[in-house]
Amino acid sequence: MPDTFNTHQIPEPSFGKMKTVEVSVNGERVTRSVAAHTSLLDFLRDELGLKGAKECCSVGECGACTIMVDGEPVNSCLMLAVEGQGKTIETIEGQSAGGQLSTVQHSFLKCGGVQCGFCIPGMVMSAEALHRKSPCAQDSEVREALSGNLCRCGGYNRMFDAMRDAAGEDVHMKTVDPVKGRTVGQDISRAGGVERVTGSQEFIGDLVLPDMAHAKLVTLDVGRARLNKIDVSRARAVPGEIDVVPGADLPQPLPRFGPILKDRPPIAMGETAYHGEAVAIVLAECKDIAAYAAGLVEVDHDPLPVVTSIESALAEGAPLVQDPSLRPGDPLSGTNVLKELEFGWGDVEAPEPDLIVENTYTFPMVTQFAIEPHGFIVSASEEKMTIWSPVQHPFLLQSIMAELFDLPLTSVHVLAPDPGGGFGGKQMPKYEPLLALVSRRIGRPVRLVLTLEETFQSVRRAGARVSVRSGFSKDGDILFHDIQSDYLIGAYADVGTRVTTKGNYLGVGPYRVPNARIRARAVLSHTTPSCAFRGYGTPQVNWAVESQENEAARQLGIDGHEKRKRNVAD
Ligand code: FES
Repeated sequence: MPDTFNTHQIPEPSFGKMKTVEVSVNGERVTRSVAAHTSLLDFLRDELGLKGAKECCSVGECGACTIMVDGEPVNSCLMLAVEGQGKTIETIEGQSAGGQLSTVQHSFLKCGGVQCGFCIPGMVMSAEALHRKSPCAQDSEVREALSGNLCRCGGYNRMFDAMRDAAGEDVHMKTVDPVKGRTVGQDISRAGGVERVTGSQEFIGDLVLPDMAHAKLVTLDVGRARLNKIDVSRARAVPGEIDVVPGADLPQPLPRFGPILKDRPPIAMGETAYHGEAVAIVLAECKDIAAYAAGLVEVDHDPLPVVTSIESALAEGAPLVQDPSLRPGDPLSGTNVLKELEFGWGDVEAPEPDLIVENTYTFPMVTQFAIEPHGFIVSASEEKMTIWSPVQHPFLLQSIMAELFDLPLTSVHVLAPDPGGGFGGKQMPKYEPLLALVSRRIGRPVRLVLTLEETFQSVRRAGARVSVRSGFSKDGDILFHDIQSDYLIGAYADVGTRVTTKGNYLGVGPYRVPNARIRARAVLSHTTPSCAFRGYGTPQVNWAVESQENEAARQLGIDGHEKRKRNVAD
Protein backbone atom coordinates (compact mmCIF):
# COMPACT_ATOMS: atom_id res chain seq x y z
CA MET A 1 0.00 0.00 0.00
CA PRO A 2 1.38 3.43 -0.81
CA ASP A 3 1.80 5.92 2.03
CA THR A 4 -0.49 8.90 1.76
CA PHE A 5 0.29 11.50 4.40
CA ASN A 6 3.30 13.66 4.93
CA THR A 7 4.58 14.00 8.48
CA HIS A 8 4.03 17.61 9.41
CA GLN A 9 0.71 17.10 11.12
CA ILE A 10 0.45 19.81 13.75
CA PRO A 11 -2.52 20.76 15.92
CA GLU A 12 -5.10 23.03 14.38
CA PRO A 13 -4.35 26.68 15.18
CA SER A 14 -6.97 27.97 17.57
CA PHE A 15 -8.79 30.03 14.96
CA GLY A 16 -11.12 32.39 16.77
CA LYS A 17 -10.20 31.15 20.26
CA MET A 18 -8.67 34.36 21.48
CA LYS A 19 -7.81 35.28 25.05
CA THR A 20 -6.98 38.60 26.60
CA VAL A 21 -3.58 38.94 28.18
CA GLU A 22 -2.30 41.86 30.23
CA VAL A 23 1.40 42.06 30.92
CA SER A 24 4.12 44.56 31.74
CA VAL A 25 6.72 44.62 28.98
CA ASN A 26 9.85 46.67 29.60
CA GLY A 27 7.93 48.83 32.06
CA GLU A 28 4.85 49.41 29.91
CA ARG A 29 1.40 47.91 30.46
CA VAL A 30 0.30 45.94 27.42
CA THR A 31 -3.15 44.45 26.85
CA ARG A 32 -3.73 42.28 23.81
CA SER A 33 -6.01 39.59 22.50
CA VAL A 34 -3.93 36.52 21.58
CA ALA A 35 -4.60 33.06 20.24
CA ALA A 36 -4.40 30.43 22.96
CA HIS A 37 -1.59 28.56 21.20
CA THR A 38 0.66 31.62 20.65
CA SER A 39 4.04 31.30 22.31
CA LEU A 40 5.38 34.19 24.34
CA LEU A 41 8.23 34.43 21.82
CA ASP A 42 5.83 34.84 18.90
CA PHE A 43 3.74 37.31 20.92
CA LEU A 44 6.79 39.50 21.58
CA ARG A 45 8.18 39.25 18.06
CA ASP A 46 5.07 39.27 15.88
CA GLU A 47 2.50 41.10 18.01
CA LEU A 48 4.69 43.66 19.78
CA GLY A 49 7.46 43.88 17.17
CA LEU A 50 10.17 43.18 19.77
CA LYS A 51 12.53 41.16 17.55
CA GLY A 52 15.49 41.03 19.94
CA ALA A 53 14.62 37.57 21.26
CA LYS A 54 15.54 35.13 18.48
CA GLU A 55 13.97 31.89 17.30
CA CYS A 56 16.28 28.95 16.71
CA CYS A 57 15.45 25.54 18.19
CA SER A 58 11.91 26.26 19.51
CA VAL A 59 12.34 23.52 22.13
CA GLY A 60 14.21 25.34 24.88
CA GLU A 61 17.66 24.03 24.02
CA CYS A 62 19.57 26.97 22.52
CA GLY A 63 18.63 29.95 24.70
CA ALA A 64 18.47 32.42 21.79
CA CYS A 65 14.95 33.41 22.89
CA THR A 66 15.84 34.12 26.53
CA ILE A 67 13.96 36.96 28.20
CA MET A 68 13.23 37.70 31.86
CA VAL A 69 9.87 36.98 33.46
CA ASP A 70 9.54 38.39 36.98
CA GLY A 71 13.33 38.70 37.06
CA GLU A 72 14.08 35.10 36.07
CA PRO A 73 15.59 34.07 32.73
CA VAL A 74 13.06 32.12 30.67
CA ASN A 75 13.06 30.47 27.25
CA SER A 76 10.19 32.40 25.72
CA CYS A 77 9.64 29.70 23.07
CA LEU A 78 8.49 27.32 25.82
CA MET A 79 5.96 29.67 27.45
CA LEU A 80 2.56 30.58 26.08
CA ALA A 81 1.67 34.24 25.83
CA VAL A 82 -1.40 33.63 28.01
CA GLU A 83 0.88 32.26 30.74
CA GLY A 84 2.42 35.72 30.93
CA GLN A 85 -0.83 37.13 32.33
CA GLY A 86 -0.05 39.60 35.12
CA LYS A 87 3.70 39.07 34.89
CA THR A 88 6.58 41.49 34.43
CA ILE A 89 8.48 40.82 31.25
CA GLU A 90 11.84 42.26 30.27
CA THR A 91 13.41 41.86 26.84
CA ILE A 92 16.75 42.93 25.43
CA GLU A 93 15.12 46.10 24.09
CA GLY A 94 14.47 47.23 27.66
CA GLN A 95 18.10 46.92 28.74
CA SER A 96 19.33 50.03 27.03
CA ALA A 97 16.46 52.38 27.75
CA GLY A 98 17.35 55.97 26.94
CA GLY A 99 20.20 54.84 24.71
CA GLN A 100 22.47 53.86 27.62
CA LEU A 101 23.92 50.37 27.48
CA SER A 102 23.55 48.35 30.67
CA THR A 103 26.72 47.36 32.52
CA VAL A 104 26.49 43.84 31.10
CA GLN A 105 25.90 45.05 27.54
CA HIS A 106 28.81 47.45 27.85
CA SER A 107 31.11 44.67 29.10
CA PHE A 108 30.09 42.28 26.31
CA LEU A 109 30.90 44.99 23.80
CA LYS A 110 34.17 45.99 25.46
CA CYS A 111 35.48 42.42 25.83
CA GLY A 112 34.52 41.37 22.31
CA GLY A 113 31.91 38.90 23.53
CA VAL A 114 30.00 39.14 20.26
CA GLN A 115 30.49 37.69 16.81
CA CYS A 116 27.55 37.03 14.48
CA GLY A 117 25.28 38.26 17.26
CA PHE A 118 22.33 35.89 16.84
CA CYS A 119 22.80 34.33 20.27
CA ILE A 120 23.79 37.56 21.99
CA PRO A 121 20.41 39.01 23.06
CA GLY A 122 19.56 35.76 24.84
CA MET A 123 23.06 35.49 26.26
CA VAL A 124 22.93 39.06 27.59
CA MET A 125 19.56 38.43 29.23
CA SER A 126 20.86 35.34 31.05
CA ALA A 127 23.96 37.30 32.06
CA GLU A 128 21.88 40.25 33.21
CA ALA A 129 19.68 38.04 35.41
CA LEU A 130 22.79 36.67 37.11
CA HIS A 131 24.47 40.07 37.41
CA ARG A 132 21.48 41.51 39.27
CA LYS A 133 21.44 38.66 41.77
CA SER A 134 25.19 38.26 42.10
CA PRO A 135 27.14 41.26 40.75
CA CYS A 136 30.48 39.64 41.63
CA ALA A 137 29.59 36.15 40.49
CA GLN A 138 32.32 33.51 40.45
CA ASP A 139 33.33 31.92 37.15
CA SER A 140 31.50 28.73 38.09
CA GLU A 141 28.27 30.67 38.63
CA VAL A 142 28.71 32.44 35.30
CA ARG A 143 29.27 29.16 33.49
CA GLU A 144 26.18 27.69 35.13
CA ALA A 145 24.05 30.76 34.33
CA LEU A 146 25.09 30.79 30.66
CA SER A 147 25.02 27.02 30.19
CA GLY A 148 21.58 27.18 28.56
CA ASN A 149 22.72 29.64 25.90
CA LEU A 150 24.50 28.15 22.91
CA CYS A 151 26.97 30.19 20.88
CA ARG A 152 28.32 28.67 17.68
CA CYS A 153 30.82 31.25 16.54
CA GLY A 154 31.88 33.67 19.27
CA GLY A 155 33.37 31.35 21.84
CA TYR A 156 32.46 31.58 25.50
CA ASN A 157 35.71 32.85 27.05
CA ARG A 158 35.12 36.43 26.03
CA MET A 159 31.66 36.26 27.53
CA PHE A 160 33.19 35.01 30.77
CA ASP A 161 35.69 37.89 30.50
CA ALA A 162 32.74 40.24 30.05
CA MET A 163 31.12 39.01 33.23
CA ARG A 164 34.36 39.56 35.15
CA ASP A 165 34.55 43.02 33.63
CA ALA A 166 30.95 43.69 34.69
CA ALA A 167 31.94 42.60 38.21
CA GLY A 168 34.64 45.27 38.27
CA GLU A 169 37.72 43.18 37.50
CA ASP A 170 40.31 44.61 35.16
CA VAL A 171 40.23 41.97 32.43
CA HIS A 172 40.36 44.09 29.33
CA MET A 173 43.25 42.84 27.22
CA LYS A 174 44.94 45.16 24.82
CA THR A 175 46.61 44.05 21.64
CA VAL A 176 50.30 43.90 22.48
CA ASP A 177 53.23 43.58 20.13
CA PRO A 178 55.05 40.59 21.67
CA VAL A 179 58.41 41.77 20.33
CA LYS A 180 58.53 45.33 21.54
CA GLY A 181 55.89 45.09 24.24
CA ARG A 182 53.97 48.07 22.97
CA THR A 183 50.30 48.52 22.27
CA VAL A 184 49.54 48.32 18.58
CA GLY A 185 47.10 50.96 17.40
CA GLN A 186 44.04 51.69 19.44
CA ASP A 187 41.21 49.65 20.87
CA ILE A 188 38.25 49.63 18.57
CA SER A 189 34.71 48.46 19.01
CA ARG A 190 33.41 45.63 16.88
CA ALA A 191 31.55 46.95 13.85
CA GLY A 192 27.87 46.32 14.53
CA GLY A 193 28.66 45.47 18.13
CA VAL A 194 26.16 47.91 19.64
CA GLU A 195 23.40 46.51 17.44
CA ARG A 196 24.32 43.00 18.52
CA VAL A 197 24.27 43.65 22.29
CA THR A 198 21.06 45.68 22.08
CA GLY A 199 19.20 43.21 19.88
CA SER A 200 18.60 45.76 17.13
CA GLN A 201 20.72 43.82 14.61
CA GLU A 202 18.25 42.59 11.98
CA PHE A 203 18.47 39.07 10.62
CA ILE A 204 16.31 37.59 7.88
CA GLY A 205 13.68 36.32 10.30
CA ASP A 206 13.28 39.84 11.70
CA LEU A 207 12.38 41.45 8.38
CA VAL A 208 8.75 42.18 7.58
CA LEU A 209 7.70 43.28 4.10
CA PRO A 210 4.29 44.72 3.28
CA ASP A 211 1.88 42.04 2.04
CA MET A 212 4.40 39.28 2.74
CA ALA A 213 3.19 35.67 2.58
CA HIS A 214 4.61 32.97 4.84
CA ALA A 215 5.74 29.67 3.38
CA LYS A 216 6.01 26.14 4.72
CA LEU A 217 7.55 23.18 2.91
CA VAL A 218 5.74 19.88 2.59
CA THR A 219 8.17 16.99 3.03
CA LEU A 220 7.98 13.22 3.45
CA ASP A 221 9.32 11.04 6.24
CA VAL A 222 11.12 8.76 3.84
CA GLY A 223 14.59 8.70 2.31
CA ARG A 224 13.37 8.45 -1.26
CA ALA A 225 9.91 8.12 -2.77
CA ARG A 226 8.02 7.99 -6.04
CA LEU A 227 5.34 10.67 -6.01
CA ASN A 228 2.06 9.29 -7.33
CA LYS A 229 -0.43 12.03 -6.50
CA ILE A 230 -0.47 15.15 -4.36
CA ASP A 231 -3.91 16.15 -3.07
CA VAL A 232 -4.00 19.74 -1.83
CA SER A 233 -7.78 20.08 -1.44
CA ARG A 234 -7.90 19.89 2.38
CA ALA A 235 -5.00 22.32 2.73
CA ARG A 236 -6.63 24.79 0.35
CA ALA A 237 -9.74 24.86 2.54
CA VAL A 238 -7.88 26.25 5.57
CA PRO A 239 -8.84 29.88 6.36
CA GLY A 240 -5.84 32.13 5.77
CA GLU A 241 -4.27 29.84 3.19
CA ILE A 242 -3.13 31.70 0.06
CA ASP A 243 -1.88 28.92 -2.19
CA VAL A 244 -0.67 25.33 -2.04
CA VAL A 245 1.79 24.52 -4.79
CA PRO A 246 3.11 21.11 -5.77
CA GLY A 247 5.90 21.10 -8.34
CA ALA A 248 3.54 20.11 -11.16
CA ASP A 249 1.68 23.43 -10.75
CA LEU A 250 4.80 25.47 -11.50
CA PRO A 251 5.82 26.45 -15.06
CA GLN A 252 7.21 23.41 -16.87
CA PRO A 253 9.81 22.22 -17.53
CA LEU A 254 11.25 23.23 -14.18
CA PRO A 255 14.81 24.47 -14.60
CA ARG A 256 17.59 22.91 -12.54
CA PHE A 257 20.27 24.89 -10.78
CA GLY A 258 23.61 24.45 -9.05
CA PRO A 259 26.95 26.22 -8.72
CA ILE A 260 28.87 23.43 -10.49
CA LEU A 261 26.32 21.13 -12.09
CA LYS A 262 22.76 22.21 -12.86
CA ASP A 263 21.24 19.14 -11.30
CA ARG A 264 18.94 20.42 -8.57
CA PRO A 265 15.25 21.13 -9.20
CA PRO A 266 13.67 23.89 -7.10
CA ILE A 267 11.19 21.27 -5.82
CA ALA A 268 10.97 17.50 -6.19
CA MET A 269 9.36 16.33 -9.42
CA GLY A 270 8.29 12.70 -9.86
CA GLU A 271 10.40 11.43 -6.98
CA THR A 272 12.33 12.68 -3.99
CA ALA A 273 16.05 12.06 -3.67
CA TYR A 274 16.59 12.60 0.07
CA HIS A 275 14.73 12.85 3.37
CA GLY A 276 13.43 16.41 3.72
CA GLU A 277 13.26 17.33 0.04
CA ALA A 278 10.22 19.54 -0.54
CA VAL A 279 7.35 18.07 -2.59
CA ALA A 280 5.01 21.08 -2.24
CA ILE A 281 5.00 24.52 -0.68
CA VAL A 282 2.17 26.17 1.24
CA LEU A 283 1.69 29.94 1.32
CA ALA A 284 -0.43 31.56 4.01
CA GLU A 285 -1.07 34.78 5.85
CA CYS A 286 0.90 33.63 8.91
CA LYS A 287 3.40 30.91 9.67
CA ASP A 288 1.07 28.92 11.95
CA ILE A 289 -1.56 28.59 9.25
CA ALA A 290 1.08 27.67 6.69
CA ALA A 291 2.41 24.94 8.98
CA TYR A 292 -1.07 23.61 9.74
CA ALA A 293 -2.12 23.55 6.10
CA ALA A 294 1.13 21.82 5.11
CA GLY A 295 0.15 18.95 7.37
CA LEU A 296 -3.09 18.53 5.43
CA VAL A 297 -1.43 17.98 2.06
CA GLU A 298 -1.90 14.32 1.17
CA VAL A 299 0.97 12.80 -0.76
CA ASP A 300 0.36 9.40 -2.30
CA HIS A 301 3.86 7.97 -2.59
CA ASP A 302 5.81 4.73 -2.75
CA PRO A 303 9.08 4.43 -0.83
CA LEU A 304 12.00 3.55 -3.10
CA PRO A 305 15.32 1.84 -2.30
CA VAL A 306 18.08 4.16 -1.14
CA VAL A 307 21.85 4.33 -0.95
CA THR A 308 22.90 6.19 2.18
CA SER A 309 26.52 5.08 2.67
CA ILE A 310 29.72 4.93 0.63
CA GLU A 311 29.47 1.13 0.58
CA SER A 312 25.89 0.98 -0.65
CA ALA A 313 26.37 3.79 -3.19
CA LEU A 314 29.40 2.05 -4.74
CA ALA A 315 27.93 -1.48 -4.62
CA GLU A 316 27.37 -3.30 -7.87
CA GLY A 317 23.83 -2.67 -9.14
CA ALA A 318 23.20 0.15 -6.62
CA PRO A 319 20.20 2.40 -7.42
CA LEU A 320 21.40 5.48 -9.27
CA VAL A 321 20.95 8.76 -7.42
CA GLN A 322 21.05 10.83 -10.59
CA ASP A 323 19.52 10.28 -13.97
CA PRO A 324 22.51 9.70 -16.31
CA SER A 325 20.99 12.20 -18.76
CA LEU A 326 22.02 14.99 -16.38
CA ARG A 327 25.66 14.24 -17.23
CA PRO A 328 25.79 13.63 -20.96
CA GLY A 329 29.19 12.45 -22.15
CA ASP A 330 30.41 11.73 -18.63
CA PRO A 331 31.78 8.15 -18.52
CA LEU A 332 30.83 8.00 -14.81
CA SER A 333 27.19 8.96 -15.40
CA GLY A 334 26.05 5.33 -15.08
CA THR A 335 27.48 5.18 -11.55
CA ASN A 336 27.04 7.11 -8.31
CA VAL A 337 30.53 8.60 -8.64
CA LEU A 338 30.14 12.24 -9.61
CA LYS A 339 33.85 12.94 -9.85
CA GLU A 340 37.08 11.08 -9.31
CA LEU A 341 40.62 12.33 -9.27
CA GLU A 342 44.07 10.85 -8.88
CA PHE A 343 47.31 12.72 -8.42
CA GLY A 344 50.58 12.48 -6.55
CA TRP A 345 54.34 12.51 -6.87
CA GLY A 346 57.24 10.10 -6.48
CA ASP A 347 56.48 6.38 -6.25
CA VAL A 348 54.64 5.00 -3.23
CA GLU A 349 55.90 1.47 -4.03
CA ALA A 350 59.59 2.43 -4.14
CA PRO A 351 60.55 3.06 -0.47
CA GLU A 352 61.44 0.25 1.90
CA PRO A 353 59.94 1.50 5.15
CA ASP A 354 60.68 0.18 8.62
CA LEU A 355 57.02 0.57 9.53
CA ILE A 356 53.85 0.45 7.47
CA VAL A 357 50.60 1.70 9.02
CA GLU A 358 47.37 0.94 7.22
CA ASN A 359 43.94 2.03 8.42
CA THR A 360 40.51 3.07 7.25
CA TYR A 361 38.86 6.05 8.91
CA THR A 362 35.23 7.07 8.73
CA PHE A 363 34.12 10.67 9.17
CA PRO A 364 30.41 11.18 9.87
CA MET A 365 28.02 13.63 8.27
CA VAL A 366 27.59 16.65 10.53
CA THR A 367 25.59 19.80 10.12
CA GLN A 368 27.00 23.33 10.34
CA PHE A 369 24.34 24.31 12.91
CA ALA A 370 24.42 28.05 12.54
CA ILE A 371 22.38 29.39 15.44
CA GLU A 372 20.29 31.33 12.91
CA PRO A 373 18.18 28.79 11.01
CA HIS A 374 18.14 29.37 7.26
CA GLY A 375 15.64 31.93 6.03
CA PHE A 376 14.84 33.65 2.76
CA ILE A 377 12.50 36.31 1.39
CA VAL A 378 11.91 36.75 -2.33
CA SER A 379 9.79 39.32 -4.11
CA ALA A 380 9.65 38.43 -7.81
CA SER A 381 7.82 39.42 -10.96
CA GLU A 382 8.41 38.35 -14.56
CA GLU A 383 10.76 41.32 -15.08
CA LYS A 384 12.77 41.52 -11.86
CA MET A 385 13.32 40.11 -8.41
CA THR A 386 14.68 41.10 -5.03
CA ILE A 387 16.11 38.43 -2.78
CA TRP A 388 16.86 38.76 0.91
CA SER A 389 19.12 35.90 1.92
CA PRO A 390 21.91 35.44 4.49
CA VAL A 391 23.89 33.86 1.63
CA GLN A 392 27.67 33.97 1.98
CA HIS A 393 28.20 34.60 -1.77
CA PRO A 394 25.59 37.21 -2.79
CA PHE A 395 27.07 37.86 -6.24
CA LEU A 396 27.09 34.17 -7.06
CA LEU A 397 23.45 33.94 -5.97
CA GLN A 398 22.68 36.92 -8.19
CA SER A 399 24.28 35.35 -11.26
CA ILE A 400 22.73 31.92 -10.66
CA MET A 401 19.25 33.43 -10.30
CA ALA A 402 19.68 35.70 -13.32
CA GLU A 403 20.69 32.76 -15.49
CA LEU A 404 17.98 30.50 -14.11
CA PHE A 405 15.20 33.02 -14.77
CA ASP A 406 16.73 34.46 -17.92
CA LEU A 407 16.96 37.95 -16.47
CA PRO A 408 19.70 40.55 -16.86
CA LEU A 409 21.97 40.79 -13.82
CA THR A 410 20.69 44.29 -13.14
CA SER A 411 17.18 42.94 -12.65
CA VAL A 412 18.21 40.65 -9.80
CA HIS A 413 18.86 42.42 -6.52
CA VAL A 414 20.35 40.47 -3.66
CA LEU A 415 20.25 41.93 -0.17
CA ALA A 416 22.35 39.87 2.20
CA PRO A 417 21.99 40.87 5.85
CA ASP A 418 24.70 39.55 8.17
CA PRO A 419 24.11 35.85 8.69
CA GLY A 420 23.64 34.50 12.19
CA GLY A 421 26.49 32.09 11.53
CA GLY A 422 27.07 30.30 8.26
CA PHE A 423 30.19 28.10 8.38
CA GLY A 424 29.78 27.27 4.70
CA GLY A 425 26.17 26.14 5.02
CA LYS A 426 24.90 29.45 3.64
CA GLN A 427 27.32 29.68 0.72
CA MET A 428 25.06 28.67 -2.13
CA PRO A 429 21.40 29.04 -3.17
CA LYS A 430 19.00 26.60 -1.55
CA TYR A 431 15.33 27.65 -1.63
CA GLU A 432 15.64 31.02 -3.37
CA PRO A 433 14.62 29.61 -6.80
CA LEU A 434 11.49 27.98 -5.37
CA LEU A 435 10.48 31.17 -3.56
CA ALA A 436 10.97 33.21 -6.74
CA LEU A 437 8.65 30.86 -8.62
CA VAL A 438 5.87 31.05 -6.04
CA SER A 439 6.32 34.78 -5.49
CA ARG A 440 5.75 35.30 -9.21
CA ARG A 441 2.71 33.05 -9.00
CA ILE A 442 0.94 34.90 -6.17
CA GLY A 443 2.33 38.37 -6.93
CA ARG A 444 3.49 38.89 -3.34
CA PRO A 445 6.78 38.68 -1.43
CA VAL A 446 7.23 35.26 0.15
CA ARG A 447 9.17 34.43 3.28
CA LEU A 448 10.43 30.98 4.26
CA VAL A 449 12.21 30.56 7.60
CA LEU A 450 13.21 26.98 8.22
CA THR A 451 12.86 25.27 11.56
CA LEU A 452 16.05 23.90 13.03
CA GLU A 453 14.97 20.40 12.00
CA GLU A 454 14.43 21.57 8.42
CA THR A 455 17.81 23.30 8.49
CA PHE A 456 19.44 20.00 9.52
CA GLN A 457 17.69 18.41 6.54
CA SER A 458 18.98 21.09 4.18
CA VAL A 459 22.72 21.47 4.82
CA ARG A 460 25.56 19.34 6.11
CA ARG A 461 29.21 18.51 5.65
CA ALA A 462 30.22 15.53 3.48
CA GLY A 463 30.91 12.36 5.42
CA ALA A 464 33.96 10.41 4.27
CA ARG A 465 35.69 7.07 4.27
CA VAL A 466 39.47 7.49 4.05
CA SER A 467 41.83 4.54 3.66
CA VAL A 468 45.49 5.35 4.15
CA ARG A 469 48.61 3.22 3.76
CA SER A 470 51.69 5.01 5.08
CA GLY A 471 55.37 4.12 5.31
CA PHE A 472 57.82 5.45 7.93
CA SER A 473 61.51 5.12 8.72
CA LYS A 474 62.46 3.92 12.20
CA ASP A 475 63.38 7.53 13.04
CA GLY A 476 59.88 8.70 12.21
CA ASP A 477 60.39 10.14 8.73
CA ILE A 478 57.35 9.90 6.47
CA LEU A 479 58.35 7.92 3.39
CA PHE A 480 54.99 7.75 1.64
CA HIS A 481 51.23 8.17 1.98
CA ASP A 482 48.87 6.24 -0.27
CA ILE A 483 45.37 7.66 0.22
CA GLN A 484 41.98 6.60 -1.11
CA SER A 485 39.23 8.91 0.08
CA ASP A 486 35.54 8.74 -0.72
CA TYR A 487 33.28 11.67 0.16
CA LEU A 488 29.56 11.05 0.60
CA ILE A 489 28.24 14.25 -0.94
CA GLY A 490 24.49 13.60 -0.98
CA ALA A 491 21.71 13.86 -3.52
CA TYR A 492 22.84 16.91 -5.52
CA ALA A 493 26.24 18.25 -6.47
CA ASP A 494 26.13 21.69 -4.80
CA VAL A 495 29.88 22.24 -4.20
CA GLY A 496 30.53 18.60 -3.25
CA THR A 497 33.02 17.94 -6.04
CA ARG A 498 34.98 21.10 -5.21
CA VAL A 499 35.05 20.15 -1.54
CA THR A 500 36.38 16.70 -2.44
CA THR A 501 39.01 18.14 -4.77
CA LYS A 502 40.27 20.95 -2.56
CA GLY A 503 40.23 18.82 0.57
CA ASN A 504 42.41 16.22 -1.07
CA TYR A 505 44.83 18.73 -2.58
CA LEU A 506 45.83 19.28 1.05
CA GLY A 507 45.59 15.59 1.85
CA VAL A 508 49.12 15.01 3.18
CA GLY A 509 48.95 17.97 5.52
CA PRO A 510 51.85 20.34 6.25
CA TYR A 511 54.55 17.67 5.99
CA ARG A 512 57.38 16.78 3.64
CA VAL A 513 56.16 13.62 1.97
CA PRO A 514 58.57 12.39 -0.74
CA ASN A 515 56.10 9.94 -2.28
CA ALA A 516 52.34 10.38 -2.38
CA ARG A 517 49.38 8.96 -4.25
CA ILE A 518 45.94 10.44 -3.60
CA ARG A 519 42.81 9.01 -5.13
CA ALA A 520 39.49 10.62 -4.29
CA ARG A 521 35.86 10.23 -5.30
CA ALA A 522 32.79 12.40 -4.76
CA VAL A 523 29.97 9.89 -4.27
CA LEU A 524 26.28 10.68 -4.68
CA SER A 525 23.79 9.26 -2.18
CA HIS A 526 20.16 9.62 -1.13
CA THR A 527 21.10 11.93 1.73
CA THR A 528 21.00 15.69 2.43
CA PRO A 529 23.10 17.51 -0.18
CA SER A 530 26.42 18.41 1.42
CA CYS A 531 28.10 21.76 1.07
CA ALA A 532 31.05 23.72 2.36
CA PHE A 533 32.00 23.59 6.01
CA ARG A 534 35.03 25.02 7.78
CA GLY A 535 38.12 23.58 6.11
CA TYR A 536 36.33 22.87 2.83
CA GLY A 537 36.89 19.10 2.81
CA THR A 538 40.32 19.18 4.41
CA PRO A 539 39.43 17.98 7.94
CA GLN A 540 38.05 14.69 6.60
CA VAL A 541 41.33 13.56 5.05
CA ASN A 542 43.70 15.43 7.37
CA TRP A 543 42.13 13.80 10.39
CA ALA A 544 42.94 10.42 8.85
CA VAL A 545 46.54 11.39 8.02
CA GLU A 546 47.12 12.91 11.47
CA SER A 547 45.74 9.75 13.01
CA GLN A 548 48.34 7.83 10.98
CA GLU A 549 50.98 10.10 12.50
CA ASN A 550 49.76 9.28 15.99
CA GLU A 551 49.70 5.58 15.31
CA ALA A 552 53.20 5.60 13.78
CA ALA A 553 54.58 7.62 16.70
CA ARG A 554 53.06 5.16 19.15
CA GLN A 555 54.45 2.13 17.38
CA LEU A 556 57.89 3.72 16.95
CA GLY A 557 58.03 4.97 20.53
CA ILE A 558 58.49 8.59 19.43
CA ASP A 559 56.71 11.59 20.92
CA GLY A 560 53.97 12.67 18.48
CA HIS A 561 54.91 16.33 18.65
CA GLU A 562 58.60 15.59 18.03
CA LYS A 563 57.66 13.38 15.10
CA ARG A 564 55.59 16.14 13.53
CA LYS A 565 58.35 18.70 14.01
CA ARG A 566 60.73 16.32 12.28
CA ASN A 567 58.50 16.09 9.20
CA VAL A 568 56.91 19.48 8.94
CA ALA A 569 57.76 21.42 5.78
CA ASP A 570 60.23 24.25 6.39
FE1 FES B 1 27.03 33.44 19.31
FE2 FES B 1 27.26 33.86 16.65
S1 FES B 1 27.89 35.19 18.33
S2 FES B 1 26.24 32.24 17.67
